[in-house]
Amino acid sequence: MGAREIRPGIYWVGVNDRATDLFEGLWPLPHGVSYNAYLVVGKKAALIDGVKAHFTEELLANIAEVLPPERIDYLVVNHMEPDHSGSVPHLCRIVPRAKVLATQAALPMLERFYGISEGVRAVADGDTIDLGGKVLKFFHVPFVHWPETMATYEEAQKVLFPCDAFGGFRALGGVLFDDEVDISEYEDEILRYFSNIVGMQSKAVLRAIERLKGLEVAVIAPSHGLVWRGDPGHIVKLYARWAQMDAAPEVTVIFGSMYGFTARMAEAVARGVAEVSVPVRILDAGRVHVSFLIREAWKRRGLILGAPTYDAGIFPPVEYLLRLLERKRLGGRIVGLFGSYGWRGGSVEVMRERVEALGWELVDAVAFPGAPTPRDFSRAQALGEAVAHRVAGTAAA
Ligand SMILES: Cc1cc2nc3c(=O)[nH]c(=O)nc-3n(C[C@H](O)[C@H](O)[C@H](O)COP(=O)(O)O)c2cc1C
Ligand SMILES: [Fe+2]
Ligand SMILES: [Fe+2]
Repeated sequence: MGAREIRPGIYWVGVNDRATDLFEGLWPLPHGVSYNAYLVVGKKAALIDGVKAHFTEELLANIAEVLPPERIDYLVVNHMEPDHSGSVPHLCRIVPRAKVLATQAALPMLERFYGISEGVRAVADGDTIDLGGKVLKFFHVPFVHWPETMATYEEAQKVLFPCDAFGGFRALGGVLFDDEVDISEYEDEILRYFSNIVGMQSKAVLRAIERLKGLEVAVIAPSHGLVWRGDPGHIVKLYARWAQMDAAPEVTVIFGSMYGFTARMAEAVARGVAEVSVPVRILDAGRVHVSFLIREAWKRRGLILGAPTYDAGIFPPVEYLLRLLERKRLGGRIVGLFGSYGWRGGSVEVMRERVEALGWELVDAVAFPGAPTPRDFSRAQALGEAVAHRVAGTAAA
């Protein structure tokens, strides 16, 4: 895309990645992702964040549109995850006189990831660096996304560079700013990024929002996705809502099934939800990648899980989902469970234990042998209705 000025003397010099299939080797990228890096130019110049190693040449070409890369005085490493820090070793070779600025906690990582220990300076929380016409101020925001993470704020232009916070999946399609797009088209991929990548650090996200609240911010320039200048408050509001586990009064039904018995029950469960006019979405855990399942579970307050018994436990795709939801520390769900079994069962019981351990509210659980009978279908429908009523805050008829 080339360099683009976002405020006087501040340039986006990042790259769009449409070639990587899996972010962190795990999360699909059907719409790509951007690694946003920014050049802040005063009398001195600083590069904030970076790109995945593979894209360093493109980053350098973008920088060269603004100034010769050799003129960079500071490399600000807000976060050590290699989707941003991957370009640091190459940049250090090209600009050996540039100082690397990072938190104290990042220094051992710089050494272990890239063998970089020279020309590095730790910045304390609240430290400032005067670039001449531009002033960078550093705020430690541990665990957004890793323990070493910080955010950088440019005082003259009031631009906040919060790295992973307020970012999203989806490469930038010829645009850069929130006011150039229909945000609703980006929101799903922002939530998928939030729930998959930073959701498990929701408490740290809320702490960071609280910490940065006093700052006057004209532009939020994260390290992935849109730059927020039209309405920076919008992305903060979205992140705060998701981090507080605030969700829509709707229901997600996620099931797995080998031979269709549990799948048929899922239809009846969803029918029950729809019967009381609560929006519902059904997903097959065996076919929809877990990355999207996590997002859908984050989106709605009601979560009904269906899984047949498999080797005395939960059918694996649903077990994997539950494991990841536990890791991502999703909270505050109103839950129903169901599943078919062949002889002794087990899946619904194991799911019940997991759900109780997570502190979710369990409304009801229905285990049934083999094919669902008319009685099982009516229990399934009642389960859907009961969860929907709890979610909507309405009384059962
Ligand atoms: C590989 C495999 C392992 C299974 N393990 C168990 C088990 O440990 N206990 C049990 O009660 N049923 C077990 N079953 C039987 C299924 O739970 C049963 O057929 C169920 O009705 C399948 O529901 P579905 O049509 O939704 O896949 C197993 C089935 C398969 C294929
Ligand atoms: Fe990260
Ligand atoms: Fe990142």
